[in-house]
Amino acid sequence: MDFAGSHILSIAQFERGHVERIFSVADAMGPYAQRKRVTKVLDGAILGNMFFEPSTRTRVSFGSAFNLLGGEVRETTGFESTAIAKGESLYDTARVLSGYSDVIVMRHPAEGSVAEFAAASRVPVLNGGDGSNEHPSQALLDLYTIKNEVAAHGGTLDTLRIAMLGDLRYGRTVHSLCKLLCLFSRVEVQLVSPLELRMPAEIVEQMRTAGLKVVESDQLEESIARVDIVYSTRIQEERFSSREEADLYRGRFRLNQSVYTAHCQPNTVIMHPLPRDSRDNARELDDDLNDNPNLAIFRQTDNGVLVRMALFGLVLDVADQVEKHSREVNWYTAGRF
Ligand code: NCD
Repeated sequence: MDFAGSHILSIAQFERGHVERIFSVADAMGPYAQRKRVTKVLDGAILGNMFFEPSTRTRVSFGSAFNLLGGEVRETTGFESTAIAKGESLYDTARVLSGYSDVIVMRHPAEGSVAEFAAASRVPVLNGGDGSNEHPSQALLDLYTIKNEVAAHGGTLDTLRIAMLGDLRYGRTVHSLCKLLCLFSRVEVQLVSPLELRMPAEIVEQMRTAGLKVVESDQLEESIARVDIVYSTRIQEERFSSREEADLYRGRFRLNQSVYTAHCQPNTVIMHPLPRDSRDNARELDDDLNDNPNLAIFRQTDNGVLVRMALFGLVLDVADQVEKHSREVNWYTAGRF
């Protein structure tokens, strides 16, 4: 795959070299994301940021990433505010909006919808999440975070041991992350979920075919005992037929400081794509972990900006010109990062 002009729709597009390229561009984005330098490399470019499902992090971090590269953002949120509510097809919407933008990010509740939209778009489209199918930019920022976190303890992606907890059936972040881990054949994965919410069999099969060791379980404590990363997820209640059905599973695998102290190794890193469900009947990742230095959830969200800047830089083919169009910031920025 040549990044320039490409859609980013699925992890299936990537080989290991692509991922390494994204990560090295993300590393170079540090001074811009940390407000030490500003760049205008995308001066005049427009991002169409189209979110048809709720989003905080993905929407705002894609928008901020584009702004940080000097571009402008036009945004639509929800179906009600667009002509899709009047019956317009994805094809027509894509034809129209790709005339107004240089690149589009889209999130949509239907699996495959972003690829359908991309097929009609005249500009690159980045998948911000299509139903329970995929969330490739999240998997990339998760893997970038994992790489940095394990490196801090002398580890590498090649010897990674990771446990994923929660709704593995509908969680698109874990679907994409498992596909991405297939590029690292010695990884060991513990998949911890209620029986009804197991990882789709074809993804488990894909991991085993790639050489990964995969164990499926519904027992939290033994599964988190010997891993480098615990990756917790939310019950995806919007994919269930009712809230009551989602309530059956909510709060089933709770990680808090006492569970962590009793069962995890001292360096185990805690991750979550967020939002964590902090309601009393959920608390999959308890607030009492907030001061745990191994809680990496806000390092993940910060890394999301770097990785999304890298994706824009590569797709719009300016990754090597960022510095040329840069200068130091004028304002006071110390202490923020
Ligand atoms: C995730 C999503 O939307 O798939 N959130 C995110 O983008 N960070 C996870 C979730 O909603 O549970």
